[in-house]
Amino acid sequence: MKFLVIGASGFIGSHLMNELRRSGHEVIGTSSHEGVDGLLKFDLLVDTLTKAIPRRFLELGDPPVIVLAAVQGNMDRCLADPHTSRLINVAKPIALIRHAMSYGAPVLFLSTGHVFDGTLGNRIESEPIKPVNEYARQKLEVEQFLQDEYPNALIARMDKVVGETSRHHHLLTEWWELARDHMPIVCVEGMEISPTSVNDISKGLKLAAERGLRGIFHLAGPDRMTRAELANRFCAIGNVKSPVVEKPLSAFGFLDGRALRSSLNGNKFQDAIGMRFSTANDILQRFFKNSGALPSPTDY
Ligand SMILES: NC(=O)c1ccc[n+]([C@@H]2O[C@H](COP(=O)([O-])OP(=O)(O)OC[C@H]3O[C@@H](n4cnc5c(N)ncnc54)[C@H](OP(=O)(O)O)[C@@H]3O)[C@@H](O)[C@H]2O)c1
Repeated sequence: MKFLVIGASGFIGSHLMNELRRSGHEVIGTSSHEGVDGLLKFDLLVDTLTKAIPRRFLELGDPPVIVLAAVQGNMDRCLADPHTSRLINVAKPIALIRHAMSYGAPVLFLSTGHVFDGTLGNRIESEPIKPVNEYARQKLEVEQFLQDEYPNALIARMDKVVGETSRHHHLLTEWWELARDHMPIVCVEGMEISPTSVNDISKGLKLAAERGLRGIFHLAGPDRMTRAELANRFCAIGNVKSPVVEKPLSAFGFLDGRALRSSLNGNKFQDAIGMRFSTANDILQRFFKNSGALPSPTDY
């Protein structure tokens, strides 16, 4: 199969591209910047698909699966600059989807558990949605466009995706760096997440595309826990001595709202694909195994 991964320099896009290539698929990945190794430059704000991507890749043989992994994912920036963030997160992706529709290309849209209101965790796909911030409203707008206009699409909602090494930027790497600098790990009180391995996400997305899965699915690890609970396990498994501190959401001074519970129930997807996602403990163990020397366990 052929895949066009828009946003292949990002955390999930880069892992997915590697997973697809390892399985023998033909993949073109993009970055918004010129000169990123192995990626074509495609800036959603200024470039057009037909100019940036070779025509033969788009038009010869079966059309590529278009993976929309590009995002302005900073929630406060989405509110502070709604014009630009809406272009990146809504208007340009919808234009791309319309283009994909014109030649029947399957679309894989990466979305978020923040489309729910955050009052309950463990959400299933059919529950009512009510985003509490601009970022999630933007993601929801594309979801709704797809549901109305292009059922030949897979909408993959995720919650807290983390890596299994310290080579990429993600939550565990942030904590790793805090521990190295002898700083406390400060968590939003009561914020409940589903920690999910980026390797499982990549494998799950690849299998879903290969099998032509369509509709809305939640891709989430089996555990639901507060950030502080995950941080305490991180410290225990990694022999990290940083204190874990909880503070109320209001103490963080965020510009926009946050869903307090964004955990997702991944059973529908895992049943459809026949794949089990890693537990939080397994992810943490692999993270410390793969990340080399631990920060020295001095007393803080
Ligand atoms: N990470 C998570 O925990 C998580 C959870 C739920 C949902 N998601 C969803 O998963 C998707 C990927 O997230 P991620 O964490 O991998 O994001 P990320 O690491 O921030 O990567 C964002 C990607 O978007 C690209 N991008 C930004 N502005 C662009 C523009 N103007 N034109 C073209 N590309 C642009 C970036 O390219 P350059 O860096 O080259 O500019 C980068 O490749 C997003 O849709 C996000 O909403 C992620």
